[in-house]
Parts: sequence; structure tokens; C-alpha cells
Amino acid sequence: MQNFEYYTPTRLIFGKGVIGKLPEVLGAYGHKVLLTYGGGSIKKIGLYDKVLALLAGFEITELPGIQPNPKYDPSVLEGVRLCKEKGIEVILSVGGGSVLDCSKAIAAGACYDGDPWDLISYKVKAQKALPIVDILTLAATGSEYDCGGVISRPETNDKIGYIDPLLFPVASFLDPTYTFTVNAWQTAAGIADAMNHILEQYFCEDATLMNDGFCEAGLKSLMVNGKACLENPSDYKARAEMMFVCTLACNNIMSLGNSGSGWPMHGIEHALSGYYDITHGVGLAIITPRWMKHILSARTLPRFVKYGVNVFGIDPSLPGMEIALQAITATYDFFASLGIPMHLQDVGIGPDRIPEMAHHVAVNEGLENAYVPLTEQDIAAILTASL
Ligand code: NZQ
Ligand code: ZN
Repeated sequence: MQNFEYYTPTRLIFGKGVIGKLPEVLGAYGHKVLLTYGGGSIKKIGLYDKVLALLAGFEITELPGIQPNPKYDPSVLEGVRLCKEKGIEVILSVGGGSVLDCSKAIAAGACYDGDPWDLISYKVKAQKALPIVDILTLAATGSEYDCGGVISRPETNDKIGYIDPLLFPVASFLDPTYTFTVNAWQTAAGIADAMNHILEQYFCEDATLMNDGFCEAGLKSLMVNGKACLENPSDYKARAEMMFVCTLACNNIMSLGNSGSGWPMHGIEHALSGYYDITHGVGLAIITPRWMKHILSARTLPRFVKYGVNVFGIDPSLPGMEIALQAITATYDFFASLGIPMHLQDVGIGPDRIPEMAHHVAVNEGLENAYVPLTEQDIAAILTASL
């Protein structure tokens, strides 16, 4: 077991109707609020009106229009400008992971005099960030319980994971009823994203029985509850458990004391959405079984056997390699059963830019240190197999 430190200073406020506590929780950090949100879903579900009614005594400045795969320009830059101009004291992020990730970059940029890209690109370490409170409307990323944000810059095809302990939200409101309206595509992508977060922790060199059980239970819960969410989008029990598991899946609590894995599938997916602006969870679902096949070897076989037997219930008396291959097929089939198109060509990505993307990933994502080290050629092979 490896040494570790764990500290997550985020207050989780979970359940139906918890938004009533918003004025009290937000008010502890200030009354000048930057309200960030996306393309309008919060208005359609009535949440925008509810928030404004609850915050009648607050001074609110709005930053609408944050897109999926949130963009540095204009969203981060505009948010930073507004925070400085209006003397914002606290950010209230209402939406999915993209709104929250963008809010995290704004929170740090607002307390920095230079170009916020200096912080996101790790050229300069942030000294301070504004507090963030969020109301989550989509279960997927775990951004509500971690200190990372992923920011895109289409002009350079960059999609960078910006991680800093200053970026933990101070409080996250998690009301599963707000996720009832998430459509089938985004629900499926959320299931695949959270499952992949767990797989990125599960496939490592040194794990504990405790963590393996935690991860296997998380995967099974996501599969069962995710399917139930797709069958009945207003199934509270299923939406609630999915939200709960997604929240835990990305802040390392499921792998404390494990060796790191380098999160290789995320490293590769960042290029897909950086170059083609596709839905993150869909890109991951396509890559996952191809990455698994690529790294399957005598060294990794025991992990695949454990995964196949404990997650998919494959007969443990079969030869190890057969269990592993069945587990990879079961992973593929599960994602396909969610309605996810399982080939890059289905989401508009052909072979032409694979060498460029593989080079970008090899230079920027550090996958030579992954659980199974990946060279530029390996990355290109995984992408090609995903076509
Ligand atoms: O923009 P609006 O109108 O709000 O619509 C959104 C958006 O179109 C819609 N939506 C959100 N809540 C809804 C809803 N529609 C109906 N009802 C609701 N209640 O869903 C669409 C997608 O939203 P988005 O926020 O982009 O989805 P998600 O939460 O999956 O976030 C994806 C982003 O998070 C990053 C991804 O790379 C991607 O950029 N990630 C962040 C991580 C983190 N911070 O730790 C980890 C992840 O690995 C991931 O990389
Ligand atoms: Zn992810």
C-alpha cells in the first residue's frame, strides 16, 4: 500500500429539496455573486427562477452560455473580467460539469493579475481562488467533489485538466430531481464517464482489497442504476444512486493507497474532444475496450480476471485469457447497450488526424508513466482500433 494524503473540504448537501439551504450556505461567503450557467437547461427546468427567488437579497451578476467542453475564450476570460469589475465574492455554478469546470478556472483567474492561461497551463501556481458553491444538474464528472476543471482552447486543440486543491467547491448541492431532464445521450455519456473514472483507478499495479471492492461496487451500481435512469428518467432512486456514485468516482477516494495509473484513457480522450469537440463520456466509451485490448498481457491479466469475475460474473473456472477477453467484450456491449455509437467514425472522426492527435497526447499527457506505459505509436494504435 502506498503513502497518501486525503483532504476534501467540500460540503455535500444531498437530496430532494435541499436547495432551501442555498441562501444560508452561499451567504457565508458573500453577497456579490457570479451566477454561472450553460445554454439554458436551467431555465427550462425552472431552476433559474427558483435560484433567483431564493437569492432575492443578493447582488447577482450572470455569466450564461458556458458550452460543453467549456472554452477559455470567451467563457473563462469573460467570467474573470466580470469578477474583477464587479468585486465578486463567491461564484454560484448551476449546471453540469462544464459549467462547474469553467467556474473553477474563473475562480482562480479572478484572483490573479496576469493571463489566466498561465494558471491553467501550470506556468504559474495560483495563490488564491474565489469560493465556489454549485448546484449540480447532471451526474457524470464528479467535478462537484474534486479540485479539477477541464478547459478547452480550440485554436490550439488543447483540452487541459487544471488541478489545484484551491479549486474544491466549498459546497455542492446535489438534488437528483434536477437530473430527471438530462436526455438519454448525456445520461449514457455520464454513466460511461463515471465508469471510466473508476476503471482508471482500478487498473493499476498496487491495489487493496478494500479499494477493489469499492470500485467493483461502484461499477455495478452505475450499470444497474444507469440503465434504470435510461428506462425511466424520473426514477428518483436510480438517479440518486447514480449521482452519489458519480460524485465519489473522481476524487480518488476509491483508490487511496493504490499506485497511480496516469489516467491513460482520459489522456487520449482529451485529444478527441480537443480536436473534434465531441461528448467526453462518448469518447471514453469508444476508447475503453480498445485500450483494454491493447494493454492485455501476462502482466495485466490478473486485473482483467478479477474485473471479469467480480463485475460481470464471468465463470472463474475458465482460462484467464478467456475471462479477460469476455470482460472486454462485456464492457463494449454494455456501452453499446446504452445507445452509445461505439466507433469514432460514428461521431465524425476519421483516420486523417490520428497521427497528429497521437503526437499531441504523447507530448502533453505524460502517458509514458501510465500503468501500462503508452508511446505515441501505442496511442495511434488505440485510436486506429477505435475507428
Ligand atoms: O448547457 P445547458 O443548457 O445547461 O445543457 C447541458 C449541456 O448541453 C445539458 N444539461 C445539463 N444539465 C441538464 C442538461 N439538460 C437537461 N437537463 C439538465 N438537468 O447537458 C449538456 C452537457 O453538459 P456538460 O456540463 O458538458 O456535461 P458533463 O457534466 O458531462 O461535463 C462534461 C465536461 O466535464 C469535463 C469533461 O471533459 C467535459 O468538458 N470533465 C471534468 C472532470 C472534473 N472536473 O473532474 C472530470 C471528467 O473526466 C471530465 O473530463
Ligand atoms: Zn471523465
